[in-house]
Amino acid sequence: SHRLTLYAFMPLPITSIVIQYFGRLIHERFERIQAMFSDISARAQENFSGVRVLRAFAQEQPEINAFENANREYIARSLRLVRLMGMLWPTLEVMLGLAIVLVLWLGGREVVLGRITVGKFVTFNTFMVMLTWPIIALGWVINITQRGTASVVRLNQIFAEKPEITDVAARPATDLGPIRGEIEFRDLNFNYNGTHVLKNVNLRIPAGTSLAVVGPTGAGKSTLVNLIPRIYDAAPGTVLVDGRPIQEYPLAELRRSIGFVPQETFLFSDSIRDNIAFGAEDASTSDVRTAAEAASIAGDIEEFPEQYETAVGERGITLSGGQKQRTAIARALLRDPRILVLDDALSSVDTHTEEKILSRLREIMQGRTTIFISHRVSTVRNADRIAVLHGGSIVELGTHEELIARSGYYTDLYNKQLLEEELAQV
Ligand SMILES: Nc1ncnc2c1ncn2[C@@H]1O[C@H](COP(=O)(O)OP(=O)(O)OP(=O)(O)O)[C@@H](O)[C@H]1O
Ligand SMILES: [Mg+2]
Repeated sequence: SHRLTLYAFMPLPITSIVIQYFGRLIHERFERIQAMFSDISARAQENFSGVRVLRAFAQEQPEINAFENANREYIARSLRLVRLMGMLWPTLEVMLGLAIVLVLWLGGREVVLGRITVGKFVTFNTFMVMLTWPIIALGWVINITQRGTASVVRLNQIFAEKPEITDVAARPATDLGPIRGEIEFRDLNFNYNGTHVLKNVNLRIPAGTSLAVVGPTGAGKSTLVNLIPRIYDAAPGTVLVDGRPIQEYPLAELRRSIGFVPQETFLFSDSIRDNIAFGAEDASTSDVRTAAEAASIAGDIEEFPEQYETAVGERGITLSGGQKQRTAIARALLRDPRILVLDDALSSVDTHTEEKILSRLREIMQGRTTIFISHRVSTVRNADRIAVLHGGSIVELGTHEELIARSGYYTDLYNKQLLEEELAQV
């Protein structure tokens, strides 16, 4: 009966509005739950890896309280969702009930008026009742899809993120030939979101020579070297390798030819061997050993009970600061790079070990380009040239002897450290 069907579907527009309303709310609330969950996991993870700092500052109880608060908030948000979900099904059932009432009432009248037979009426009602379960199932599906889309939105935010530094301007590797290792900064200016850090830097480092960079903290030394492997991107044409803007090299090619030891050592919770052979999984044991020897870490490693298979713990927690640094140097050397950058990479080793590493490096880096950043004269004095970076500009440039003769920043540094050494010997 058309008429009965019409009656049965009368509550439908309202149902669809209700469904949309619930759907949107479930989506919003679930998104907030997920955001909270991500905060909680991040906090827990940080607390585990930073547990030593936490203990040292006696911050266990405050952190436990903060964790508890975060969890309470998570519960509150979950309850808000559960309450809403609890409302969804009854509401749908009410809608369905309403449809049944309409059918019974209006349909009953039809029967009384003799427009339809009792048999048809009963059949129709049976069908209506059979619809109950599918409607409830619809509620389920709405709930699940809305939660699903809330998660997908969060995932898509990450998937849609495009790296700012790309290969777009790169030429095919075959056009370029192997990198020799000459580095040039040409009228280089660089800012982080408007804060100017490097100003008018002009410097050419011929292939096969070494350059040391010294300067007060915050002068822009790390920034300068980070521009070479394009960790940050400088304006095209201001940083050149072998006379070409670095943007012309495929990123992987450029980075493969640079051995980079960052100021902050980062080790993975893996064996020492795999940390040294990071990114060069096909390296043989003897390659790893050679790199470790060059970085003067081989002796330390061989004293560990499990030697190269020793697990270093999260971020290298089981190694000393100097051992971590030397592991990072070995990692850079293993790749046999044309260009080696050491950003304050010897700061945690004593001057005796430093001298050993430097003399090995001089052999290995024969004919290759090396950049040292350091606060120590002992590290930089034998470099072919030394640049003093001050306030983002190069203020002094020359060999150790030349700079000593100029009595500027470098001379000060030298005299102070000389004095310290003499005091230490007393
Ligand atoms: N990722 C960044 N975003 C914004 N500003 C930054 C960033 N990295 C560094 N800076 C700022 O740029 C300036 C130069 O920092 P940089 O790390 O190059 O100094 P540095 O010479 O290496 O110092 P240090 O000797 O302490 O390592 C600093 O004022 C620093 O606060
Ligand atoms: Mg630095």
